[in-house]
Amino acid sequence: GKTILVTGVASGIGARTAELAGQMGAEVIGVDVREPANGSAAFITGDLSTPSGVAEIVARLPARLDALANVAGLSGSTGVVSTLAVNFYGLRALSEAVAPRLREGGAIVNVASIAGYGWRANLELAKSLTSVEGFPDVAAIVAEHGLKDEQAYPLSKELLLLWTMRAAHQPLFKQRGIRVNAVSPGPVETPILKQFRAVLGDARVDSDITRVGRAGTAADIAPAVLFLCSDGGRWINGANLAADGGLEASINADVL
Ligand code: NAI
Repeated sequence: GKTILVTGVASGIGARTAELAGQMGAEVIGVDVREPANGSAAFITGDLSTPSGVAEIVARLPARLDALANVAGLSGSTGVVSTLAVNFYGLRALSEAVAPRLREGGAIVNVASIAGYGWRANLELAKSLTSVEGFPDVAAIVAEHGLKDEQAYPLSKELLLLWTMRAAHQPLFKQRGIRVNAVSPGPVETPILKQFRAVLGDARVDSDITRVGRAGTAADIAPAVLFLCSDGGRWINGANLAADGGLEASINADVL
């Protein structure tokens, strides 16, 4: 059987991804800063927001894994330092530490967001913030670049999308055929959506939902994540899969 590591497993998309992977016969190792309510399978309590938290998670992992689903994330409501730490630097540190344990042809899938599609417009900043190696002092980076709390969430997902493309070509992953891809949801009915409403305003979230008729559900996203984790996704690398009911298409094609 396959072994998959899923972060953010205590809630929402991570919980559903772990559940579906288990139903498909995989062995699931879950990571979250909170205990899952319906704790199933193997679970590691761990905090992705600090280097020591990531190291503690890695110390408890098995020697071999088939896939890593990076689902854990913060909405931005806790500020730019914690949001960049969890959504990008901690995720990347975990991925780099897990890479040597992933089997040849294994996969990493990053849950990004439609909110990260501004990476191209912000390319210079995104390149600069992703070129800092390891798990840096995030507060120092935030101070150096004068980053604001309002930028936290979209910026974190821009960095994640850019890094996903670059990681696909990075020797650490590429040499052993480890694919790195992203899945980008639009609004999904999970606990974080209430925080997005508080940060972005109801009008913004509701207009996205109106475009596609309803909010997504965690069950809409999990199969896309697991497809990119699976061998069926073997020729997909460095890609972003929009799992948004057509939202990106609607915005790009200016359809309302
Ligand atoms: P959620 O809030 O239900 O789940 C997020 C999980 O991440 C929680 O269980 C939380 O405890 C965990 N987490 C937070 N900080 C952590 C840390 N320091 N260490 C370990 N785990 C930590 O939200 P949801 O919707 O399941 O979000 C999953 C991913 O999907 C996130 O990356 C989010 O940005 C992304 N996403 C969600 C959308 C939505 O509308 N729900 C839209 C687009 C992207």
